[in-house]
Amino acid sequence: MTADVVRVAFGGATGYVGRTLVPSILARSDFKLVGALGRKRAGVDIGTALGLEPAGVQITDDIQAVLAREPQVLIDYSAPEPAARWCRAAVEAGVAVVMATTALPPSAVVEIGRAAERNDVGVFLAGNLSTAAHLMMRCAELLGRYMGDVEIVEGHPSTKLDSPSGTSFETAELINRAGNPPRTADLTQFGLPESRGAQLGRVRVHSMRMPGMVDHQEVFFSSPGGLITIRTESFSPIVFAGPTLKAAKLILGEHGLVRELPGIYEPD
Ligand SMILES: NC(=O)c1ccc[n+]([C@@H]2O[C@H](COP(=O)([O-])OP(=O)(O)OC[C@H]3O[C@@H](n4cnc5c(N)ncnc54)[C@H](OP(=O)(O)O)[C@@H]3O)[C@@H](O)[C@H]2O)c1
Repeated sequence: MTADVVRVAFGGATGYVGRTLVPSILARSDFKLVGALGRKRAGVDIGTALGLEPAGVQITDDIQAVLAREPQVLIDYSAPEPAARWCRAAVEAGVAVVMATTALPPSAVVEIGRAAERNDVGVFLAGNLSTAAHLMMRCAELLGRYMGDVEIVEGHPSTKLDSPSGTSFETAELINRAGNPPRTADLTQFGLPESRGAQLGRVRVHSMRMPGMVDHQEVFFSSPGGLITIRTESFSPIVFAGPTLKAAKLILGEHGLVRELPGIYEPD
């Protein structure tokens, strides 16, 4: 193994995203999988669990056992509770983190960021690591400077644990930061107030959770007499693979909590 091989642990290795990203890691000569965190298949080799050749790495929910195998970076796509624990333990052990799990409590994110600073490692937090979603958010940020009325409609499978999605939170955050053409006054008085969605700053978010949905977001911008819609849809978690693995390398040179990694979405 050369010094350029990155030792990586994966949180949520058997999940919807993990089942696609772990095989991508195993197929790469510049990464070595040294840890696979999961729960139901604990004790089973991760390669075997994914229908591949044995990888020599047993699934475990014991973060300390994973850290003992000296990963340089933890990529986490799990659930808020284990993610907060695992990411905190990783940075305390001097391991960098790509923190992709959404809906961590803001206080946990702040604590993990502080622990990363103390331990001089980087933590990358991103609500959506697909290039298409990144471009959608950049466009939304631009349009938000000119158009005050913004509503998001997002859809995911019924199995998704959080609502609104991390993508819509991050999109709203960027739009709210971008500027302030005011919203048109909303004169709704009658009916069901919840039908107007959740309000994140000046952005309304409407979340659909349906079995047939995969990963869908539309952002509607309006000014009097006009409408612009940006729509993104992904059909496979493979969209997260390239940027996630780039992030796993780029975060090794960072310190503390970072929200952007220059070059991560550039074409190879
Ligand atoms: N930032 C991004 O670009 C991005 C993209 C897609 C998804 N996400 C986020 O990534 C997370 C995972 O998404 P997913 O669709 O892959 O979810 P998922 O299919 O539910 O998979 C969750 C994974 O985490 C493991 N896990 C959950 N709770 C655990 C616990 N208490 N102890 C040990 N393992 C546990 C599960 O293992 P078991 O099956 O053994 O319980 C499974 O491997 C979500 O927060 C999602 O919103 C982020």
